[in-house]
Amino acid sequence: MALPAHFLEELRARTPMAPLVGRRVKLTRAGRNWRGLCPFHNEKTPSFHVYDNGFHCFGCGASGDAISWVMQTQGLDFMEAVTSLAAEAGLDVPAPTPRAAEEVRVRADILSVLAAAQEAFSRHLSQPEGAAGCAYLASRGLDEAACARHGLGWAPEGRDTLIRELAGQGIELAQLVEAGLARPADEEHRAADFFFGRVTFPIRDRRGRVIGFGARTLADTQPKYLNGPETPVFAKRRALYGLDRAREVIRKDKNNEIIVVEGYLDVITLAEAGFPGAVAPLGTALTEEHLAELWQLSPMPVLCFDGDAAGARAAARALELALPQLRPDRSLRIANLGGGKGKEDPDSFVRAKGAAAFADVLEHAEPVVDALYGFMARAAGTGVESRAALHKRLMDAAARIEDRSLGPEFRRALLDRFFAERRASRPGRTPAGRPGGLGAQPVARRTPLPPRPRLDPESARLARADCLTLILCRHPWLLRGAGEAFAMLDLPTPHARLRDAMLAWEHALQNRAVPTHAGQNRAEPLDTVELLAHLRQVGLGPELERVLATTLRCAAPDAMPAEVEAGFWHFFGLMNPGRLEAEWMAATREMEKHVDTATQQRLIALSLARAALRRGETGLDPDL
Ligand code: UTP
Ligand code: MN
Repeated sequence: MALPAHFLEELRARTPMAPLVGRRVKLTRAGRNWRGLCPFHNEKTPSFHVYDNGFHCFGCGASGDAISWVMQTQGLDFMEAVTSLAAEAGLDVPAPTPRAAEEVRVRADILSVLAAAQEAFSRHLSQPEGAAGCAYLASRGLDEAACARHGLGWAPEGRDTLIRELAGQGIELAQLVEAGLARPADEEHRAADFFFGRVTFPIRDRRGRVIGFGARTLADTQPKYLNGPETPVFAKRRALYGLDRAREVIRKDKNNEIIVVEGYLDVITLAEAGFPGAVAPLGTALTEEHLAELWQLSPMPVLCFDGDAAGARAAARALELALPQLRPDRSLRIANLGGGKGKEDPDSFVRAKGAAAFADVLEHAEPVVDALYGFMARAAGTGVESRAALHKRLMDAAARIEDRSLGPEFRRALLDRFFAERRASRPGRTPAGRPGGLGAQPVARRTPLPPRPRLDPESARLARADCLTLILCRHPWLLRGAGEAFAMLDLPTPHARLRDAMLAWEHALQNRAVPTHAGQNRAEPLDTVELLAHLRQVGLGPELERVLATTLRCAAPDAMPAEVEAGFWHFFGLMNPGRLEAEWMAATREMEKHVDTATQQRLIALSLARAALRRGETGLDPDL
């Protein structure tokens, strides 16, 4: 009795070899793989190797996959080993059924039919009937040798060439239909080949077996590409064109780039130009299954979609899809072919500009944080409401990351960008450039900021206290949320006196509750005119005037509440580096529990203050 092949494949994929073997054998890294003393024979120097999909001993010849490892080391039979591994991998073992055995037979049959078709197509390309196909491929820069390297072929004109040809090898029409190579007859039509008069591209699985075909017309008639139908061996949501070569290339050197492109020709041209790690989905959007497959090959595949609007949309969609699954060791980069006329794809780019230029494009591929920010910022407008909406979208995006350590990092990086850009977009300022992606520390700026005023520590302290006090004078409502923190600050004497008077005033108003018409009590609103009058009245006029002479954007009467609050926490942080770290940690923890705007604003401001302190700046910025 057989288990379905897809189940065993899934089980193997979910059972990494090294940790499994590592429970019994002490392994050390050997390049991309692992090595240790063979458990199957006695040896003093390690000749036992563990790969991502199996083990092999060069001393005694023992070898196998995860299942046979468990069978051999634990003395279990096949089903017992599978059951034990499945339990660990969180998979249910399907009951072995005659139907599963039938499935295995059908798959094997389809694969052998596809192999026969591949043989026929590639033969036709090199024969006279394939001359037009050859000429077309030559016009795309592919000579005979290149065509052979990629297994390209020719599906001849005539509607049943393949049917008749393979019949001669004992392959029946029903088998061709099942393999997605022919359409059965119906009332009006005779049975016909699926592909004819087209150049064929064999699509292979990870092990290099042909599982289907794509085929291109020579003229640009529609559809330009025809992809074979889904069959028991060919699922478009899983298959990637070029996957077998990419796996091979990574096995040889894991530093090779895995590049995801959109088209067959892109994969081929890149491989020919020295980028053999290119793969493409088959005319569909990238799926979660594709991502999982890609991450098995590389922690950081590069997406390089066409340089048009559709390509950008596809990349944005892929990012959205990837977000929940990102981890510190599992991400993406987005390469940009550069606008120009906006029509470039990797194939035309390499042909026009060469491999070195493409290597440069890869080099400058953006980390997810930057690409995501770019997509969202470009989609948003510039007004206050759009900025607020962008802010929300960024935070929502970060919140979708499930990894506990990456999520907060991401949020921070996105906020850094958001604020760096906001400040850069203010008139009269040099653009601040953009901070690097995650891990790029210290924050790299392409264009240096204009030098900031350098103040001696005591003047800086006074100036910061001015800012903080000013914010509260202009927006006393903030005393209700931030009064407690303000109360604990170590302030210069004039500011401390202002503060104490402000807090006393607020306290008095709090207790003098106003009866509302509903009969409930509500604290009296905190009004700036009243506060200033009060402060003058208690004799703090001179101290107050000094504070009021400060200019600060976030303290302006028309500043948005969120802006005011952010400004307060910024200066609060600068006034008290010791507390800053603790407040920042607290805000970070709070954000992990739930995301609300107030906490967000506080965190943003505290982060900015930290960054300013780390850069050794005063953090005093009238624009803030
Ligand atoms: P493109 O239209 O970008 O094609 O489609 P391309 O690869 O640049 O084609 P050339 O350079 O003109 O030969 C990208 C991919 O989308 C799928 C194919 O997989 C193609 O490689 N596609 C495209 C289809 O499935 N059907 C189509 O009609 C067009
Ligand atoms: Mn193209």
